[in-house]
Amino acid sequence: MRKVISVLNQKGGVGKTTSSINLSCCLAQRGFHVLLVDLDPQAHSSIGLGFEPDTYQYAIHDVLVNKLSIEQAMLKTEIENLNLVPSHIRLDRAEQLLTPEMFKETRLHKAINHLNYDFIIIDCRPTLGTLTINALYASEFILVPCEMARFSLDGFSDFMDTIEHVRNNEDNPKEKTIRILLNKYDSRKKITNDWVIDQLEPFRDILLKTKIRQNEALNQAHMAMEPVMTFKPSSPGAQDYDALAEELVTLWHL
Ligand SMILES: Nc1ncnc2c1ncn2[C@@H]1O[C@H](COP(=O)(O)OP(=O)(O)OP(=O)(O)O)[C@@H](O)[C@H]1O
Ligand SMILES: [Mg+2]
Repeated sequence: MRKVISVLNQKGGVGKTTSSINLSCCLAQRGFHVLLVDLDPQAHSSIGLGFEPDTYQYAIHDVLVNKLSIEQAMLKTEIENLNLVPSHIRLDRAEQLLTPEMFKETRLHKAINHLNYDFIIIDCRPTLGTLTINALYASEFILVPCEMARFSLDGFSDFMDTIEHVRNNEDNPKEKTIRILLNKYDSRKKITNDWVIDQLEPFRDILLKTKIRQNEALNQAHMAMEPVMTFKPSSPGAQDYDALAEELVTLWHL
């Protein structure tokens, strides 16, 4: 069994990296074998799991452009069952090099297709370029963190169009299931919450039940370069990501 999950939203700062790290960790703590692929040149997932860029020899751009085997770029994390393919700012240049190439959209799929993990989670950059299309192509599940704020849904229809474009590609190997995850939820902000939920009405069927509350421990864990489950296991952030893992595992009948 293997599920490839892209964590994706072209809006910046909505919780893609926070969700990638903490969902990966929760699934690994449940005994699943998880690989987190950092596909953002900002390398925030790599840093958030304790790896400063320039301290590792290889990163995801070596796999996508230089055809290094993905195994050679893998790092073992402090979390049992969780491995990481780190990123580096050089991935930005790699995306430019890749864009005019043939079969550019399938590089990641080809690189991970033979792997035997229970879950491969891909943290995407906040754009809809070649890297993100690679992630979409390789995935069967797309997790879309959405901030509880006024502009959180801007560009959402472009985003759905891009997914549709990849879905309709006849070479595309996989169905795509999309689910929206509400993040930075604060029950005191009733008017904002009602407004966002109202805007999301057309997407009601793809909204996850779990909401990730606004929680400072998530921020602090990021600064401490570790998942919130090890940084502050009793925090609301840790509880919410565990509830998300539970909801997804139930959804997938695992
Ligand atoms: N539920 C939350 N409560 C408090 N802080 C949060 C929460 N979710 C995310 N954050 C903080 O918000 C900031 C942006 O989160 P994150 O880096 O996960 O977003 P992103 O979508 O990956 O951003 P980018 O588009 O730059 O990759 C970070 O400082 C993170 O710690
Ligand atoms: Mg990020």
